[in-house]
Amino acid sequence: MTEALVPPEPQQLCQQLFRDLADAAASADHPLRLVTLSTIHDNSARARTVVLRQVNPDAGSVLIHTDARSGKIEQINRNPHGCLLAWDPARQMQLILSGSFSVHTADDVADALWQASPPASLRACLAPAAPGTVAAGPDCNLPESLRGRIPDASELQAGRSNFAAIRLQIESIEWLQLHRNGHLRLKLQLLSGRLVHAEWLMP
Ligand SMILES: Cc1cc2nc3c(=O)[nH]c(=O)nc-3n(C[C@H](O)[C@H](O)[C@H](O)COP(=O)(O)O)c2cc1C
Repeated sequence: MTEALVPPEPQQLCQQLFRDLADAAASADHPLRLVTLSTIHDNSARARTVVLRQVNPDAGSVLIHTDARSGKIEQINRNPHGCLLAWDPARQMQLILSGSFSVHTADDVADALWQASPPASLRACLAPAAPGTVAAGPDCNLPESLRGRIPDASELQAGRSNFAAIRLQIESIEWLQLHRNGHLRLKLQLLSGRLVHAEWLMP
């Protein structure tokens, strides 16, 4: 008979998860790098894939970036509550990071993330039309001169006003670890990056 999963100590797990998320933000092929950002839109939900860009374990926050004209910005401004969902298939681990989003366009948070971002990830800010605009036909929404090419730093400046950082202040992390002899599920509650409560949930 194989062993049951050994339950982690909550504080150690919390620290480990922030290390994992920080690694994910720093490496292109980490399984936790692509997360699902969920927002509330009137009485319905909206979810989309985004890239985890930066993680601040001390503050208990993460950053992604987006086009300031995209639908998620208005949704967050109307209702900041939401979550990021991540799944690591190799480790069979799901994370739900819930909390409050804030939008940063013309402040230090946005400036620092803009500076730290590679040009390839910023090219979309030069899109002529707002993401989600109805098009007359198939259209990649990039200026002709930038199709198949990454703009240099001076060309990118024109897109700075379309750039937004979205910060999630994490209020809870729900950890689900699958295991063939029985899954485990733990909810970690955080206040400003500090673990304040942990409770085991039935998986
Ligand atoms: C692999 C992948 C990575 C993506 N990364 C981002 C991202 O980092 N930021 C972003 O705004 N959109 C990203 N997108 C596009 C979004 O999923 C979404 O289509 C777009 O942001 C518009 O969303 P909205 O209209 O709901 O605001 C990504 C899509 C995929 C498939």
